[in-house]
Amino acid sequence: MCGIIGILERKNVAPMIRKSLKRLEYRGYDSVGVCTVHEGKLHIKKDKGKIDEIHARLNLDDLPGSVGIGHTRWATHGAPSQVNAHPHTDCSGTLALVHNGIIENFQELKNKLISRGHVFKSNTDTEVLVHLIEEEYKEGVPLEEAVRKAFQHVEGSYAVAVVSTKEPEKIVCVRKESPLVLGIGDGALYCASDIPAFLEYTRKAIILQDHDLAVLTRDGFRILSLKTGEPVEREVVTIDWTAEMASKGGYPHFMLKEIHEQPYALADTLRGREFYIGLISWLIENSKKVFLVAAGTSYHACLAGAYMLSRLAGVATIPVIASEFCEKYGDSVDSDTLVLAVSQSGETADTLNAVRYARKRGAKIASITNTLGSSITRYSQVYVLTQAGPEIGVAATKTFTTQLATFALISLKLAENLGNSAFDLRAIREELKAIPSLCEEVIRINEPRAQQLAKRYSTYENFYFLGRGISVATALEGALKLKEISYIHAEGYPAGESKHGPIALIQDNFPCVFVAPNDVTHPKIIGNIMEMKARGAKVISVIEEGDREVEELSNDTFIIPKGVSEVLTPILFVVPLQLFAYYCAVERGADPDKPRNLAKSVTVQ
Ligand code: G6P
Repeated sequence: MCGIIGILERKNVAPMIRKSLKRLEYRGYDSVGVCTVHEGKLHIKKDKGKIDEIHARLNLDDLPGSVGIGHTRWATHGAPSQVNAHPHTDCSGTLALVHNGIIENFQELKNKLISRGHVFKSNTDTEVLVHLIEEEYKEGVPLEEAVRKAFQHVEGSYAVAVVSTKEPEKIVCVRKESPLVLGIGDGALYCASDIPAFLEYTRKAIILQDHDLAVLTRDGFRILSLKTGEPVEREVVTIDWTAEMASKGGYPHFMLKEIHEQPYALADTLRGREFYIGLISWLIENSKKVFLVAAGTSYHACLAGAYMLSRLAGVATIPVIASEFCEKYGDSVDSDTLVLAVSQSGETADTLNAVRYARKRGAKIASITNTLGSSITRYSQVYVLTQAGPEIGVAATKTFTTQLATFALISLKLAENLGNSAFDLRAIREELKAIPSLCEEVIRINEPRAQQLAKRYSTYENFYFLGRGISVATALEGALKLKEISYIHAEGYPAGESKHGPIALIQDNFPCVFVAPNDVTHPKIIGNIMEMKARGAKVISVIEEGDREVEELSNDTFIIPKGVSEVLTPILFVVPLQLFAYYCAVERGADPDKPRNLAKSVTVQ
């Protein structure tokens, strides 16, 4: 996730671009860059670091000109550095471009462009775009046509803004699967990753759709189809958000915004990175012992991950809570061991400690993290980045589901390599592709229910969250979400184990949340639901559409679209539980973004 901005004004734009980038900083903050077009030249300042510190060093405001673009980066391809910071320029220094998204076929495009003589300066996927446009930007071809032609070759997600010294009073932008909005000012035009970036300058906006190309000039704007070049009509909306709402993209809290970002985050995580997924699965295949080590929500991802690896590939791995790792398994770590550490931040002290310990004993280290350049990436022989973008709410949401998606990719790869899976791996790969849109549907169906049920249940002080099989991970995560942000005591448990103790607490109206997909555990979980119901429990269940049996046993239900494979269920089934926890916290007047006593990244052991 990165933030982009483009401004066409009647005055100097550089200070405005800097202010807009500040508003976009939540989308990424490892590098910043600004480019203006003035007197036939591109004027660029960019570097690695946060906006304020770069501005203090370089003074971003003194770039001349009334047309410009800016970028705040969250590295995906290429480490944070000056050369990798956007904007990127073509060989001739005519074009500059900023991009948010991931170009899937960049390597193939890059090879072709190099063979045609293009010289690359960075390690980013983005740079191919500006060279591709250069190829099409021949005498007499307007910039928008060159951009349109160039993007016919591009696969992946993008929100892009381009400027040219040959057409200095123009910005061209395109969008596919990464957000992009236009701002319509008084004699001024803007394009940005989101509305808050230009809200100070105008409240009139157009939400661009996938495959839209917009041309901003002194005479106004035009929107064309990226595919056909034909004009398209888009509605102008007036934004009435407060400044505080604006910083959260119109949502009252970051947590809710991040829950809603999951379809995008999943789509980005599922594309590309096959090489690293392959390396990790190879390491798993070639190690005698494999530990999945993590803390908090990331540990729950490991629990589900172990299940996926076992079911799909028949490979047993051991999920371990990071703070327990050294004492529990330290003595068994050797050079035949792989530690696959999972950490959103890549900085959790317990996880790093386990990793350092295992390294000293000669183990191989791999990791799944959301943060490029984090400590964990430096300790790892190989790492895979989840593409969730910065997560600001303390409670992990989109980083959890993207970790699960990453485990699914690793498990599928491993199962394909081993070639002895009992599952139709190709069908599961296809299903995985549909997960982002299913996730969107899950949010749409269940958000009103979560609001309603939070009203009904948020006054209760104790909850059980129960599941079987892979849904134990979902149940534990659902309980953790509720507990950490609403301060309701919630315990997650394997449903089968609940009769060995927890059931003693059940009496009239004790709420039990059952995670009950239609998988191999379905017949057994029905028994568990009955046991609880017989003792007066209130049953809230997360079920597949059309599961009449569990629906009839339940007081309330959350509904998930039918037919998702067992190993992928946590990615969807956890979403209503995130929403439920969020709305319970809101009902109880707690701030879901900043739960007491908790920190986003825990750097003490
Ligand atoms: C903290 C956060 C949790 C997170 C855990 C592990 O406790 O509040 O949300 O799951 O750390 O963090 P990591 O960055 O290692 O995934």
